[in-house]
Amino acid sequence: MTYLPDPSRYESMTYNHCGRSGLKLPAISLGLWHNFGGVDTFENGRKIVHRAFDLGITHFDLANNYGPPPGSAEEHFGRMLAADLKSYRDELVISSKAGYYMWPGPYGEWGSRKYMISSLDQSLKRMGLDYVDIFYSHRPDPNTPLEETMMALDQVVRQGKALYAGLSNYTAIQTKEASDILRQLGTPCLIHQPRYSMFERWVEEGLLDVLETNGIGCIAFSPLAQGLLTNRYLEGIPPDSRAGKPTGFLRPEHVTETAIQKVKQLNNIATGRGQSLAQMAIAWLLKDSRVTSVLIGASSVDQLNDNVKALENTWFEQQELDAINDILTQ
Ligand SMILES: NC(=O)c1ccc[n+]([C@@H]2O[C@H](COP(=O)([O-])OP(=O)(O)OC[C@H]3O[C@@H](n4cnc5c(N)ncnc54)[C@H](OP(=O)(O)O)[C@@H]3O)[C@@H](O)[C@H]2O)c1
Repeated sequence: MTYLPDPSRYESMTYNHCGRSGLKLPAISLGLWHNFGGVDTFENGRKIVHRAFDLGITHFDLANNYGPPPGSAEEHFGRMLAADLKSYRDELVISSKAGYYMWPGPYGEWGSRKYMISSLDQSLKRMGLDYVDIFYSHRPDPNTPLEETMMALDQVVRQGKALYAGLSNYTAIQTKEASDILRQLGTPCLIHQPRYSMFERWVEEGLLDVLETNGIGCIAFSPLAQGLLTNRYLEGIPPDSRAGKPTGFLRPEHVTETAIQKVKQLNNIATGRGQSLAQMAIAWLLKDSRVTSVLIGASSVDQLNDNVKALENTWFEQQELDAINDILTQ
Protein backbone atom coordinates (compact mmCIF):
# COMPACT_ATOMS: atom_id res chain seq x y z
CA MET A 1 0.00 0.00 0.00
CA THR A 2 1.49 3.35 -1.03
CA TYR A 3 0.39 6.17 1.19
CA LEU A 4 -0.17 9.58 -0.34
CA PRO A 5 -1.23 12.25 2.14
CA ASP A 6 -4.34 14.31 1.48
CA PRO A 7 -3.25 17.50 -0.34
CA SER A 8 -5.87 19.47 1.64
CA ARG A 9 -4.46 18.36 5.00
CA TYR A 10 -3.55 21.85 6.19
CA GLU A 11 -6.89 23.46 5.38
CA SER A 12 -8.97 22.82 8.48
CA MET A 13 -6.60 22.12 11.39
CA THR A 14 -5.86 24.92 13.84
CA TYR A 15 -2.17 25.47 14.73
CA ASN A 16 -1.19 27.23 17.93
CA HIS A 17 2.15 28.69 18.92
CA CYS A 18 3.68 26.59 21.67
CA GLY A 19 4.14 29.08 24.48
CA ARG A 20 6.35 31.96 23.36
CA SER A 21 8.27 29.75 20.91
CA GLY A 22 8.21 29.82 17.15
CA LEU A 23 6.93 26.25 16.97
CA LYS A 24 3.27 25.74 16.14
CA LEU A 25 1.46 22.58 17.19
CA PRO A 26 -1.87 21.30 15.95
CA ALA A 27 -4.72 21.93 18.41
CA ILE A 28 -5.13 18.16 18.46
CA SER A 29 -2.09 15.86 18.58
CA LEU A 30 -1.93 12.06 18.52
CA GLY A 31 -0.31 9.98 21.24
CA LEU A 32 0.94 6.41 20.72
CA TRP A 33 0.87 5.21 24.32
CA HIS A 34 -1.83 2.59 23.70
CA ASN A 35 -2.96 0.93 20.44
CA PHE A 36 0.43 1.06 18.66
CA GLY A 37 2.47 -1.54 20.54
CA GLY A 38 3.55 -5.09 19.89
CA VAL A 39 0.24 -6.39 21.31
CA ASP A 40 -1.76 -4.27 18.85
CA THR A 41 -2.53 -4.67 15.16
CA PHE A 42 0.13 -2.83 13.19
CA GLU A 43 -2.15 -2.07 10.22
CA ASN A 44 -4.80 -0.52 12.46
CA GLY A 45 -2.23 1.81 14.00
CA ARG A 46 -0.91 2.63 10.56
CA LYS A 47 -4.39 3.62 9.35
CA ILE A 48 -4.83 5.88 12.37
CA VAL A 49 -1.48 7.59 11.75
CA HIS A 50 -2.30 8.12 8.06
CA ARG A 51 -5.71 9.53 8.87
CA ALA A 52 -4.21 11.80 11.51
CA PHE A 53 -1.71 13.26 9.07
CA ASP A 54 -4.47 13.65 6.46
CA LEU A 55 -6.42 15.68 9.03
CA GLY A 56 -3.51 18.04 9.61
CA ILE A 57 -2.24 16.37 12.79
CA THR A 58 1.47 16.99 12.46
CA HIS A 59 2.45 16.07 16.01
CA PHE A 60 2.95 12.46 17.13
CA ASP A 61 3.86 11.81 20.74
CA LEU A 62 5.87 8.80 21.89
CA ALA A 63 8.01 7.71 24.82
CA ASN A 64 10.70 5.09 25.30
CA ASN A 65 8.35 2.82 27.25
CA TYR A 66 5.20 2.91 25.07
CA GLY A 67 4.00 -0.51 23.96
CA PRO A 68 3.61 -3.03 25.44
CA PRO A 69 6.22 -4.38 25.30
CA PRO A 70 8.16 -1.20 26.12
CA GLY A 71 9.82 0.24 23.03
CA SER A 72 7.46 -1.44 20.57
CA ALA A 73 5.39 1.70 19.85
CA GLU A 74 8.56 3.49 18.77
CA GLU A 75 9.55 0.48 16.65
CA HIS A 76 6.13 0.39 14.99
CA PHE A 77 6.13 4.12 14.41
CA GLY A 78 9.64 3.81 12.95
CA ARG A 79 8.31 1.25 10.46
CA MET A 80 5.47 3.60 9.50
CA LEU A 81 7.89 6.48 9.07
CA ALA A 82 10.18 4.42 6.87
CA ALA A 83 7.35 3.01 4.75
CA ASP A 84 5.03 5.99 4.45
CA LEU A 85 6.23 9.24 5.93
CA LYS A 86 9.94 9.45 5.29
CA SER A 87 9.65 12.22 2.73
CA TYR A 88 7.38 14.20 5.09
CA ARG A 89 9.82 14.28 8.01
CA ASP A 90 10.05 18.07 7.93
CA GLU A 91 6.25 18.30 8.23
CA LEU A 92 6.22 16.24 11.43
CA VAL A 93 6.83 17.05 15.06
CA ILE A 94 7.84 13.81 16.78
CA SER A 95 8.44 13.64 20.50
CA SER A 96 9.86 11.07 22.86
CA LYS A 97 10.52 10.91 26.58
CA ALA A 98 12.62 9.20 29.19
CA GLY A 99 11.90 8.87 32.90
CA TYR A 100 9.99 5.66 33.57
CA TYR A 101 11.45 2.17 33.90
CA MET A 102 12.97 0.95 30.67
CA TRP A 103 15.79 -1.50 31.36
CA PRO A 104 17.22 -3.32 34.41
CA GLY A 105 19.97 -2.00 36.62
CA PRO A 106 20.63 1.43 38.09
CA TYR A 107 20.66 3.28 34.74
CA GLY A 108 17.32 2.24 33.29
CA GLU A 109 14.92 4.86 34.70
CA TRP A 110 14.50 8.28 36.38
CA GLY A 111 16.59 11.34 35.51
CA SER A 112 20.35 10.78 35.51
CA ARG A 113 22.33 12.09 32.59
CA LYS A 114 23.45 8.50 31.97
CA TYR A 115 19.88 7.23 31.58
CA MET A 116 18.40 10.22 29.73
CA ILE A 117 21.04 10.27 27.00
CA SER A 118 21.27 6.47 26.54
CA SER A 119 17.49 6.29 26.37
CA LEU A 120 17.21 8.96 23.68
CA ASP A 121 19.88 7.14 21.65
CA GLN A 122 17.79 3.96 21.90
CA SER A 123 14.59 5.81 20.91
CA LEU A 124 16.27 7.32 17.85
CA LYS A 125 17.42 3.86 16.78
CA ARG A 126 13.98 2.32 17.25
CA MET A 127 12.33 5.06 15.19
CA GLY A 128 15.12 5.24 12.61
CA LEU A 129 15.46 8.98 13.21
CA ASP A 130 18.44 11.33 13.38
CA TYR A 131 16.62 13.57 15.83
CA VAL A 132 13.31 13.99 17.66
CA ASP A 133 11.61 17.36 17.68
CA ILE A 134 10.85 17.34 21.39
CA PHE A 135 12.61 15.34 24.09
CA TYR A 136 10.98 15.25 27.51
CA SER A 137 11.98 14.44 31.01
CA HIS A 138 8.97 12.16 31.59
CA ARG A 139 8.87 12.63 35.36
CA PRO A 140 10.83 14.49 38.02
CA ASP A 141 13.46 12.42 39.81
CA PRO A 142 13.60 13.13 43.56
CA ASN A 143 17.07 11.57 43.82
CA THR A 144 18.89 13.31 40.99
CA PRO A 145 19.82 17.00 41.08
CA LEU A 146 17.41 18.87 38.82
CA GLU A 147 20.46 20.53 37.21
CA GLU A 148 21.71 17.13 36.02
CA THR A 149 18.46 16.20 34.30
CA MET A 150 18.14 19.65 32.73
CA MET A 151 21.77 19.57 31.58
CA ALA A 152 21.04 16.27 29.84
CA LEU A 153 18.11 17.92 28.01
CA ASP A 154 20.27 20.90 27.10
CA GLN A 155 23.02 18.63 25.84
CA VAL A 156 20.83 16.55 23.52
CA VAL A 157 19.46 19.78 22.04
CA ARG A 158 22.99 21.09 21.49
CA GLN A 159 23.97 17.77 19.91
CA GLY A 160 21.06 18.06 17.50
CA LYS A 161 19.44 14.85 18.78
CA ALA A 162 16.42 16.92 19.83
CA LEU A 163 15.23 20.32 18.67
CA TYR A 164 13.39 21.32 21.85
CA ALA A 165 13.21 20.28 25.50
CA GLY A 166 10.06 19.46 27.45
CA LEU A 167 8.88 18.47 30.91
CA SER A 168 6.12 16.10 31.89
CA ASN A 169 4.44 15.45 35.22
CA TYR A 170 6.46 18.16 37.02
CA THR A 171 4.57 20.17 39.66
CA ALA A 172 4.20 23.93 39.30
CA ILE A 173 7.16 24.59 41.62
CA GLN A 174 9.38 21.97 39.98
CA THR A 175 8.48 23.40 36.58
CA LYS A 176 9.47 26.90 37.60
CA GLU A 177 12.84 25.64 38.90
CA ALA A 178 13.51 23.47 35.87
CA SER A 179 12.52 26.25 33.50
CA ASP A 180 14.90 28.70 35.22
CA ILE A 181 17.76 26.22 34.88
CA LEU A 182 16.99 25.48 31.23
CA ARG A 183 16.82 29.18 30.40
CA GLN A 184 20.20 29.77 32.04
CA LEU A 185 21.62 26.90 30.02
CA GLY A 186 20.31 28.49 26.83
CA THR A 187 17.67 25.87 26.02
CA PRO A 188 14.35 27.34 27.14
CA CYS A 189 11.66 24.84 28.08
CA LEU A 190 9.30 24.54 25.11
CA ILE A 191 6.41 22.62 26.59
CA HIS A 192 4.92 20.89 29.58
CA GLN A 193 2.86 17.71 29.24
CA PRO A 194 0.51 17.26 32.18
CA ARG A 195 -2.53 15.02 32.66
CA TYR A 196 -5.49 17.35 32.21
CA SER A 197 -9.13 16.60 31.61
CA MET A 198 -12.52 17.49 33.06
CA PHE A 199 -11.83 14.74 35.63
CA GLU A 200 -8.23 15.79 36.47
CA ARG A 201 -7.89 19.51 37.01
CA TRP A 202 -4.74 19.85 39.16
CA VAL A 203 -3.02 22.03 36.54
CA GLU A 204 -5.54 24.80 37.22
CA GLU A 205 -4.04 25.24 40.70
CA GLY A 206 -0.77 26.88 39.67
CA LEU A 207 0.87 24.99 36.82
CA LEU A 208 -0.97 26.80 34.00
CA ASP A 209 0.01 30.14 35.54
CA VAL A 210 3.67 29.11 35.71
CA LEU A 211 3.55 28.00 32.10
CA GLU A 212 1.99 31.25 30.94
CA THR A 213 4.43 33.43 32.88
CA ASN A 214 7.42 31.49 31.55
CA GLY A 215 6.21 31.27 27.95
CA ILE A 216 5.93 27.48 28.05
CA GLY A 217 3.28 25.68 26.02
CA CYS A 218 0.93 23.07 27.47
CA ILE A 219 -0.10 19.80 25.84
CA ALA A 220 -2.81 18.07 27.85
CA PHE A 221 -2.54 14.26 28.00
CA SER A 222 -5.38 11.80 28.59
CA PRO A 223 -7.93 14.53 27.77
CA LEU A 224 -10.69 11.91 27.61
CA ALA A 225 -9.58 10.37 30.94
CA GLN A 226 -8.44 7.35 28.88
CA GLY A 227 -11.90 6.91 27.37
CA LEU A 228 -14.06 7.54 30.43
CA LEU A 229 -15.09 10.94 29.05
CA THR A 230 -16.67 9.39 25.95
CA ASN A 231 -19.68 7.18 25.28
CA ARG A 232 -17.41 4.09 25.61
CA TYR A 233 -18.56 2.95 29.05
CA LEU A 234 -22.18 4.11 29.14
CA GLU A 235 -23.46 0.53 28.87
CA GLY A 236 -20.74 -1.30 30.83
CA ILE A 237 -17.18 -2.26 29.87
CA PRO A 238 -16.83 -3.49 26.27
CA PRO A 239 -14.21 -6.27 25.90
CA ASP A 240 -12.36 -4.34 23.17
CA SER A 241 -12.07 -1.18 25.30
CA ARG A 242 -8.99 -0.06 27.22
CA ALA A 243 -10.58 -1.04 30.53
CA GLY A 244 -11.72 -4.35 29.02
CA LYS A 245 -8.33 -5.36 27.60
CA PRO A 246 -5.73 -7.00 29.85
CA THR A 247 -2.95 -4.61 28.76
CA GLY A 248 -4.79 -1.31 29.25
CA PHE A 249 -3.69 1.19 31.88
CA LEU A 250 -7.35 1.98 32.65
CA ARG A 251 -8.61 -0.80 34.89
CA PRO A 252 -12.24 -1.91 35.35
CA GLU A 253 -12.20 -0.56 38.91
CA HIS A 254 -11.63 2.95 37.51
CA VAL A 255 -14.98 2.76 35.72
CA THR A 256 -16.92 3.60 38.86
CA GLU A 257 -20.64 4.19 39.21
CA THR A 258 -19.89 7.78 40.38
CA ALA A 259 -17.82 8.47 37.27
CA ILE A 260 -20.45 7.02 34.95
CA GLN A 261 -23.20 9.08 36.60
CA LYS A 262 -21.17 12.22 35.85
CA VAL A 263 -20.41 11.01 32.34
CA LYS A 264 -24.13 10.56 31.65
CA GLN A 265 -24.91 14.11 32.80
CA LEU A 266 -21.99 15.54 30.80
CA ASN A 267 -23.19 13.56 27.80
CA ASN A 268 -26.55 15.36 28.01
CA ILE A 269 -24.81 18.74 27.90
CA ALA A 270 -22.70 17.60 24.94
CA THR A 271 -25.83 16.46 23.09
CA GLY A 272 -27.35 19.89 23.72
CA ARG A 273 -24.29 21.45 22.07
CA GLY A 274 -24.59 19.08 19.10
CA GLN A 275 -21.33 17.34 20.07
CA SER A 276 -20.25 13.92 21.20
CA LEU A 277 -18.99 13.83 24.77
CA ALA A 278 -15.45 13.21 23.47
CA GLN A 279 -15.71 16.35 21.33
CA MET A 280 -16.98 18.42 24.25
CA ALA A 281 -14.23 17.11 26.54
CA ILE A 282 -11.59 18.20 24.01
CA ALA A 283 -13.25 21.55 23.31
CA TRP A 284 -13.49 22.21 27.05
CA LEU A 285 -9.69 22.00 27.32
CA LEU A 286 -9.08 24.16 24.26
CA LYS A 287 -11.25 27.00 25.61
CA ASP A 288 -8.19 27.98 27.70
CA SER A 289 -5.68 29.72 25.42
CA ARG A 290 -2.82 28.46 27.61
CA VAL A 291 -3.53 24.95 26.28
CA THR A 292 -1.54 24.67 23.07
CA SER A 293 -2.67 21.19 22.08
CA VAL A 294 -4.83 18.36 23.32
CA LEU A 295 -3.04 15.02 23.13
CA ILE A 296 -5.57 12.34 22.36
CA GLY A 297 -5.34 8.60 21.98
CA ALA A 298 -7.50 6.61 19.57
CA SER A 299 -8.04 2.92 18.92
CA SER A 300 -9.79 3.47 15.57
CA VAL A 301 -10.00 5.87 12.67
CA ASP A 302 -13.65 6.52 13.60
CA GLN A 303 -12.63 7.76 17.05
CA LEU A 304 -10.02 10.02 15.52
CA ASN A 305 -12.55 11.46 13.06
CA ASP A 306 -14.99 12.04 15.90
CA ASN A 307 -12.39 13.77 18.06
CA VAL A 308 -11.04 16.14 15.43
CA LYS A 309 -14.55 17.47 14.84
CA ALA A 310 -14.27 19.00 18.33
CA LEU A 311 -12.56 21.92 16.61
CA GLU A 312 -15.82 22.88 14.91
CA ASN A 313 -17.09 24.28 18.21
CA THR A 314 -14.77 25.22 21.06
CA TRP A 315 -16.98 28.05 22.32
CA PHE A 316 -18.87 27.60 25.62
CA GLU A 317 -21.67 29.74 27.03
CA GLN A 318 -21.06 30.67 30.67
CA GLN A 319 -24.20 28.73 31.52
CA GLU A 320 -22.72 25.57 29.99
CA LEU A 321 -19.45 26.03 31.85
CA ASP A 322 -21.33 26.45 35.12
CA ALA A 323 -23.43 23.36 34.47
CA ILE A 324 -20.27 21.33 33.67
CA ASN A 325 -18.59 22.64 36.78
CA ASP A 326 -21.56 21.68 38.93
CA ILE A 327 -21.41 18.12 37.61
CA LEU A 328 -17.65 17.86 38.09
CA THR A 329 -17.74 19.17 41.65
CA GLN A 330 -20.76 17.13 42.81
N1 LIG B 1 3.41 12.18 29.84
C1 LIG B 1 2.79 11.19 30.41
O1 LIG B 1 3.09 10.76 31.51
C2 LIG B 1 1.63 10.56 29.65
C3 LIG B 1 0.79 9.65 30.30
C4 LIG B 1 -0.28 9.14 29.58
C5 LIG B 1 -0.49 9.52 28.27
N2 LIG B 1 0.37 10.38 27.65
C6 LIG B 1 0.22 10.77 26.24
O2 LIG B 1 -1.12 11.15 25.99
C7 LIG B 1 -1.64 10.37 24.91
C8 LIG B 1 -3.11 10.22 25.06
O3 LIG B 1 -3.42 9.53 26.27
P1 LIG B 1 -4.69 8.62 26.34
O4 LIG B 1 -4.62 7.57 25.28
O5 LIG B 1 -4.89 8.22 27.74
O6 LIG B 1 -5.79 9.73 25.88
P2 LIG B 1 -7.36 9.80 25.92
O7 LIG B 1 -7.68 10.57 24.69
O8 LIG B 1 -7.81 10.32 27.23
O9 LIG B 1 -7.89 8.31 25.78
C9 LIG B 1 -7.82 7.63 24.56
C10 LIG B 1 -8.79 6.43 24.57
O10 LIG B 1 -10.12 6.91 24.69
C11 LIG B 1 -10.96 6.16 23.83
N3 LIG B 1 -11.50 7.09 22.82
C12 LIG B 1 -10.83 8.04 22.12
N4 LIG B 1 -11.65 8.73 21.32
C13 LIG B 1 -12.87 8.20 21.50
C14 LIG B 1 -14.14 8.50 20.95
N5 LIG B 1 -14.30 9.49 20.06
N6 LIG B 1 -15.21 7.76 21.35
C15 LIG B 1 -15.07 6.76 22.26
N7 LIG B 1 -13.88 6.43 22.82
C16 LIG B 1 -12.80 7.16 22.44
C17 LIG B 1 -10.12 5.07 23.22
O11 LIG B 1 -10.18 3.97 24.12
P3 LIG B 1 -10.46 2.47 23.65
O12 LIG B 1 -9.10 1.90 23.49
O13 LIG B 1 -11.24 1.92 24.77
O14 LIG B 1 -11.22 2.50 22.35
C18 LIG B 1 -8.74 5.67 23.27
O15 LIG B 1 -7.72 4.71 23.26
C19 LIG B 1 -0.83 9.09 24.99
O16 LIG B 1 -0.86 8.36 23.79
C20 LIG B 1 0.53 9.62 25.30
O17 LIG B 1 1.12 10.13 24.12
C21 LIG B 1 1.42 10.91 28.34
